[in-house]
This record gives sequence, C-alpha cells and structure tokens, in this order.
Amino acid sequence: MALIPGGGRPRPVGSPLVSPPGGGSAPSSRPEGLNGAGVALRPPPPVARPDIDGRASRSIELPMDPIVPAPNGTNGSGANGAAHEANGNGANGNGAAENAEGMGEMDFHLAEMSMPIDADDNDFDDELLRLSHKIHTILVDELGGQQFKSDDRERLRPVATQVMNDVLKDEKPLVPRRKAVLLEEVLNEVLGFGPIQYLLNDNSISELMINAPDMVFIERSGRICRSRRKFIDERHVMNIIDRIVRPLGKQANARTPMVDGRLPDGSRVNIIIPPLARFGPSMSIRKFKREKLTGDDLVTFGSITEKMRMFLEACVKSRLNMIISGGTGSGKTTTLNIMSNFIPVGERVVTIEDAAELQVRLPNLVSLESRPANIEGEGEVTIRDLVKNALRMRPERIIVGECRGGETLDMLQAMNTGHDGSLSTVHANNPRDTISRLETLCMMSGMDLPVRVISKQIASAVQIIVQQARLSDGSRRVTHITEVQGMEGDTLLLQDIFVYDQKGRGPDGKVIGRHRTTGFRPKSVSAIEAMGYKLPRDLFQPD
Ligand SMILES: Nc1ncnc2c1ncn2[C@@H]1O[C@H](COP(=O)(O)OP(=O)(O)OP(=O)(O)O)[C@@H](O)[C@H]1O
Ligand SMILES: [Mg+2]
Repeated sequence: MALIPGGGRPRPVGSPLVSPPGGGSAPSSRPEGLNGAGVALRPPPPVARPDIDGRASRSIELPMDPIVPAPNGTNGSGANGAAHEANGNGANGNGAAENAEGMGEMDFHLAEMSMPIDADDNDFDDELLRLSHKIHTILVDELGGQQFKSDDRERLRPVATQVMNDVLKDEKPLVPRRKAVLLEEVLNEVLGFGPIQYLLNDNSISELMINAPDMVFIERSGRICRSRRKFIDERHVMNIIDRIVRPLGKQANARTPMVDGRLPDGSRVNIIIPPLARFGPSMSIRKFKREKLTGDDLVTFGSITEKMRMFLEACVKSRLNMIISGGTGSGKTTTLNIMSNFIPVGERVVTIEDAAELQVRLPNLVSLESRPANIEGEGEVTIRDLVKNALRMRPERIIVGECRGGETLDMLQAMNTGHDGSLSTVHANNPRDTISRLETLCMMSGMDLPVRVISKQIASAVQIIVQQARLSDGSRRVTHITEVQGMEGDTLLLQDIFVYDQKGRGPDGKVIGRHRTTGFRPKSVSAIEAMGYKLPRDLFQPD
C-alpha cells in the first residue's frame, strides 16, 4: 500500500478532479493581479506549495458515487467518469499506479462514511467546476492587469458572459439555467472566494468545513452534510486561502501553517495547511450571523424556556459570576453574547477574545483581542496577558470569550476580587466536567496550587454554570442551569436548577424532550433579590 509521503491518509495521488484547460492550471507569468479589495484576478496560480519536504503539489481524485449516491444524479457517474478518465489518460505519470494501489484502502475509509449530501444545492457538479475553471483562466488573460473590486460584479458580467459564450461554442450545449449558474460561478471565481462563495452567501448555512479539495462539508439548519462543491485541486484551495489571508496581512505557508482570521463579512476562519493538515489545506469557517440571536430567540427555538430566560437575565443583572460550558459548536459564544447584552448600560466592561466574535452593545466597552506570535516567534499577546492587563483598566466586569489555559486562574481571581458579574465559557460536557475542566485549566497557570485550593477558588468565584449542548438532530439546548453551592469538605457541591430531559427521537429524527425545573430554590435568589430584582414566586416550582 502506497501511503502519501509524510504519512497521509491513504488516498490516490494523481490528476486533478477535472482536467483544467491545457492539462493543468498553467502558471501565469503575469504579476499577481490584486485589486484594491484584495481580489486576485488570476486563475488558480502556482501558489507556493507549503511543503517543506519538496513534494510536488498534489491533486486528489475522489469518486463520490460509492460513498453517497447523489439524490438527483447531478454528481453521478457522468461527472465522476470524467475524473476517472483524466486519471486514465496518463496525465499523471505514475499517479495512475498509485491510485490503483490507493483505491483499496480508500474504499475502506470511504465505505465507513455515510454522510448525506446537501440536497439544497443541486446545481454544482464536476462539469460546472471544469467549465468555470476554463472560462476563468481565459477571462483572466483577457482582463490583463485590470483591477476589479468585489462589488464590480455588474461591470465584469458582460465580458465574463462574452468569454463564457466563446468557450461554450466548443462544449456540449447548456440549458439557460445552467448557463446562468455557470456565469455566477465564474464571477465568484474572479471576485469572491471561488466555489465556496455560493455557500458563504447562503444564510441557511452556518458553518463550512473544507477538509480537502473535494471534501467540503457544511452545517445547514443545524445539520452537517457534505456539499457538492469542490475545488480543482490543492492549488485552487491555496489560492482562495491566499485571497482570504492576504488582506489581513497574513500568509499561510510552511512557516505559518496555522492562521486565524476573519472574512470581510466577519465570519471566523481557521486555516491549517500541509504538512500539519494531512489531507490538504483545510479551512473551517464559522459564518457570521448579522442578526444576532436574542434571549427571546432562544426561547422560540426551544433552547431555553421563558423561566430560564428570566432567571439568566436576573443572574446577569444582579452580577453573578457565570460560566457557560459546552462542546464545540454547542452555542457557548452565542449564549455568552446574549447574556452579555443583559448587562445594564452604565457598566464598564472589558471583553477578551482570541478572535473577536462577541457583539456587546454597551457604551463603556473595551474589546481586546489576543495576538499570535509573528514569523520570528515574537510579539505574542495571550488571553492571559490581556486578562492581567484588563485588571488595570478598572472594569466592572470582565468577559473572557473562552478559557482554555492558565488565564482561567486569573479570571477566577478577578471574579473573586470585585469584578462580580464576569462571564466566560469553557469546553466541557456537563456541569461536573466543567468544574474538573476549570481545575485542570487553573493548573496550567504554572502556579503550583493544590487541587483543594483551586476547588475552593472555583467555589467562591463561580455561582452559576450554564451547560449547553448540540443535540443529535443539530438543535442547540441549554441542558442544565446549575448552581455552585460551595465546598463540603474537599467536595465541591453542585445543584441543578433547570435541566433538559431527553426522552428519545421522533420519526423525523428530531430529539424529543423537555426542560423542567428541579424544584430547587437557588441560594443565589437572595443575592438577586438583594439587588432589587423580583423573580416570580413560581419560577422554581417543579413542573
Ligand atoms: N440556541 C441556538 N439555536 C440555534 N442555533 C444556535 C444556537 N446557539 C448557537 N447556534 C448556532 O450554532 C453555531 C455555533 O454557535 P457558537 O459559535 O455559539 O458555538 P460555540 O460553542 O461557541 O462554538 P466553538 O466551540 O466553536 O467556539 C452558530 O452557527 C450559531 O449561530
Ligand atoms: Mg465559541
């Protein structure tokens, strides 16, 4: 079995998914045509492959049909047949032999995957990708060094249409609808982020995950599925990555193979490229939601009940320290954002994040963002540095986007020393785990504190844990609102106030369950009432 050099997942190494014109994306001798908005007007160029071991750029051919039959056949054997053909015609030297060897093992891997294909985006297929790439290459040549901004779509449309019509003269005729889709793809290739631009424009998609040129996954309406969209090859992905990071003054290359950034619309992007990413350049994009969710939205979605919303609002307003915990993508940041907007207008707040996602609408707000080290390994400013600095900024509350290291101890100390009402999130699967996680994170501070001391610190700093989960149907729920009761001996006591009972799944796959109050009246009620907030008498009565 031939393995990809560097120990990659056994996958066929060989031809592009579809044959680019002239047998490859020809290196352009033209200097890179970046316009003012950072839009590169060139075909997938010979972006320096991030390899440090001198491997040649690698394209990947992956059959889709054996994994998941496309519902309407648009991704069916015809399109894949083209890719196979490209392989078979010897364009790749010994790639064919490698493919033949690789296939067996790859089939084994893919056979394990039964991932639904996005049923809401049926227009894209290999043929469209091939044509779009071909037209784009010619169009870029025609445009010469002309500069276009991302909002120059209408200006570019006539010339793109002209080139498309010329190219299509030598191709099988396309129905008008398909032609219109193709034109948009070409424009996206020139002015946007290529094949994924369509997904970025679609508001029902919340997340994009590009694992390899032909492995694009999305989260649509809470559910993850595989997209039909693909890139030509790794160079094509690298070109789009370059387009994303260049305006940020960053580069993704062998020296900086991991890059965090944001798209112009505010979406959060993480990029990691080979050799760290073994299947090819990888991108994870958390789409920015223009309309921020509110507490009422969470009630409407069934993520919380009205009683829970009232309680959470009262907790924030009366300055309880709270931790929101949950798994990845469970909705922690969203809930933190909603809760931070319960903070009374007059208070001074400092927010600290790795990549600013929170949108706190307060006049007296300072928003801080950490910074990674530069290429020389200098200039790093960590969340911990920022928490320490924040303490000198006279904040009334500190909001740390996520505690994932030694800053947790500083955060707890801040909570214990006059910064009541501070909020943060941690990755943990249930309230008890949240405590263990906080303890572990405090130990990462380098202070050699016994666990008992840390537990005491947590017990006196944190009053409420809001536990969030992404359920199997993709919905997000607050599964626990739990009060930290304090220490009994060496044990930290927790008491659930609201919980979500999952009863099963309906025929449509939707989770069936309900929130209920446990009947426990939290100790914090006296603190809430002391701050002047009246909670309904029956708020904690068992349902
Ligand atoms: N209550 C909710 N109902 C529906 N969708 C939600 C809810 N909360 C969050 N989401 C959506 O879920 C996705 C993930 O949310 P969010 O970024 O808040 O998660 P997270 O736990 O902070 O993720 P990470 O661990 O990656 O930081 C977003 O697209 C968000 O809009
Ligand atoms: Mg988050």
